[in-house]
Amino acid sequence: MASVIAFVSQKGGVGKSTLARALAREAAAGGLRVKVADLDTQQGTSVDWHRQRLSQGIEPVVSVEAFANASQALAVASGYDILIIDGPARTSQATAEIAKAANLIVQPSGASLDDLRPAVREFHALAKAGIPKERLTFALNRIATPSEEADARAYLQEAGYSVIDGCLFERAAYRQAQNIGRAVTETKFAGLRAQADSLIQSIIDKAIT
Ligand SMILES: Nc1ncnc2c1ncn2[C@@H]1O[C@H](COP(=O)(O)OP(=O)(O)O)[C@@H](O)[C@H]1O
Ligand SMILES: [Mg+2]
Repeated sequence: MASVIAFVSQKGGVGKSTLARALAREAAAGGLRVKVADLDTQQGTSVDWHRQRLSQGIEPVVSVEAFANASQALAVASGYDILIIDGPARTSQATAEIAKAANLIVQPSGASLDDLRPAVREFHALAKAGIPKERLTFALNRIATPSEEADARAYLQEAGYSVIDGCLFERAAYRQAQNIGRAVTETKFAGLRAQADSLIQSIIDKAIT
């Protein structure tokens, strides 16, 4: 049975698809059988990215497929080592369903209080719905400075949740990489690649332990 890792958030634009793709790329490069389940059927961003990646001939090939909901995605999980759920924005009902199915639930968040407060509320709601807190973790994305990262991390830990080691800074290069079917771990800038690699490796470590 596949290990199920889900990226969720009520907000759009926080980095669910960005991290889902990078995790898929790194897991595939490590020889694992990976499937990305794009549950954001309105946007389909990971499906589009996959098409772009195929047309550019970028290796490793990462399998991405659209599904209407978590249970449809889970139905194919047995054929893979990792099922990565790229969640939709907005719906708390879908988020709860995804969270129940996942071994690890990663919520990306920016560093402003406007981002952090609703993000914490979202995890409180999932915890209240019976999801064990150990399965809920944050990943910091679109960060401006190391001190901003440190403050956001402290805020989330204070609220009772773990935060993945490392973060992604806000960089045009990450967007540019994804525009051409690459993952943030495949940007041509070595420093940014290392930063993304380290965050994704921390997610893999957390999912496996
Ligand atoms: N760290 C970052 N730096 C720059 N752009 C980013 C970063 N993370 C995400 N983006 C860009 O922001 C947009 C939204 O990200 P995405 O991963 O699609 O969010 P979500 O899936 O949560 O809606 C995309 O265009 C993506 O390339
Ligand atoms: Mg998305």
